[in-house]
Amino acid sequence: MRTFLTVSTLFIIAAFHLAAGENDSEPLPIPPLLQYETLQNGTKLFHLEADEGSREFFAGKSTRTLGYNGDYLGPTIRVSRGDEVIIRVKNSLRDPTTVHWHGADVPADSDGGPHQGIASGESWDADFQVRQKAATLWYHPHFVGTTGEQVYKGLAGLFIIDDEISGNLDLPMEYGVDDIPVILQERKFDRNGKFSYRPSMPDKMHGYFGNEILVNGAILPYKNVPRGPVRLRILNGSNSSLLRITFDGLSEVHQVASDGGFLEKPVALSYLVLSPGERAEVIADFSLTNGSSVMMNTESNGGEIYDALEFRPVGARQPAWEAMESLVTVEDIPESEASKTRRFSMQSGMGARMTINGKVMDMNRVDERLRLGDTEIWEIENRDGMGGGMMGGMNQPHSFHVHAVQFRILDINGRAPPAQLAGWKDTVLLWPGDRVRIIARYDSYRGLYMYHCHLLEHEDNGMMGQFLIE
Ligand code: C2O
Ligand code: CU
Ligand code: CU
Repeated sequence: MRTFLTVSTLFIIAAFHLAAGENDSEPLPIPPLLQYETLQNGTKLFHLEADEGSREFFAGKSTRTLGYNGDYLGPTIRVSRGDEVIIRVKNSLRDPTTVHWHGADVPADSDGGPHQGIASGESWDADFQVRQKAATLWYHPHFVGTTGEQVYKGLAGLFIIDDEISGNLDLPMEYGVDDIPVILQERKFDRNGKFSYRPSMPDKMHGYFGNEILVNGAILPYKNVPRGPVRLRILNGSNSSLLRITFDGLSEVHQVASDGGFLEKPVALSYLVLSPGERAEVIADFSLTNGSSVMMNTESNGGEIYDALEFRPVGARQPAWEAMESLVTVEDIPESEASKTRRFSMQSGMGARMTINGKVMDMNRVDERLRLGDTEIWEIENRDGMGGGMMGGMNQPHSFHVHAVQFRILDINGRAPPAQLAGWKDTVLLWPGDRVRIIARYDSYRGLYMYHCHLLEHEDNGMMGQFLIE
């Protein structure tokens, strides 16, 4: 397993910390569940408003932010499989935006990609039926060229789908109590506690890192938890930072779900690695700790190591959690079903020209045409490996995210993926030089969708393409 240090040594960051000692620890903010109104035909109508705001991440130091229905981040949208949903988005920003439902199986015109721009002052409806399995998805802007900045300043939220299976598994499921959203975002603050988002040319190429880690918008908060199993729905909501997550006080946690739903069975892990946009649901068993608290630590490939979130177990010690033999059946998509293999090569060029197959994103160009119903293998290569990049030294990770589908990873550098990556995925990390094959059924809707690197500075600088399902 490659360690983070091989990557982090490439980045030199003049970091300083405002946090330590300046703030009293605050409880972990839990994004509220977004209320909806039920229309006569049963459709659930949700309202989101993107607006400007401000927040004191450090006591007495205020910075301008963006948020949905609030100053920073957004409420959690929670729906069930089968629901008819309308999400009405009002854009009260000065700039155009979009809202994309990352990981969701929705019609192209409700996907909220770069083509569904909402002008300042306008509203837009996403209208779809929830057809997919239980999963922890998320939502964020996707306007061409400004996604990085808008997400950075606070536009993001969780989108949780339930189904019959998720409701009947013996897993913690009391939202905010033992089923806890954990949105991790590495952010850079200046000495006045203000967000600074001004990517330089090297930042555009390497990604924009930070000097603090926010957890649901707070710096080093604490969370009281039962002294037993607790489910964490972790999202790496950073722009470009890969995060390696450990739990100081627990030797392992069990991952039960990846991007698109449950794994076949819980996977014991001593640490997790999430690239931007990836999610993991894990069970942390706080009956196992003898200490008074467990610290969740995150290490960023920007070079920083943070104490991120302190868990304080309270109440009577429960019996140790026993990982179940199986959670769900994850049916394979046989390779023989694929009608086509496409190749995607990711590479950075001079002047932060971030390319896939040698091209930067062009809204007016369709890069790939697929047939509705087809199964395809996509073979993706990170050519910014040793000696692979144009500049020779461009040795950096990328990720690959596909809209419209959840895919399975067939192999990584010719080897079967580890168990935590063997379930449903919509985003996959590629270390320098990696070659990954994924397989998916493009069987939901016709229309135009995106694939891209989810390091947002790369995406904004061209590392994105469009596929049309016809
Ligand atoms: Cu999370 Cu195309 O994005
Ligand atoms: Cu997406
Ligand atoms: Cu990239």
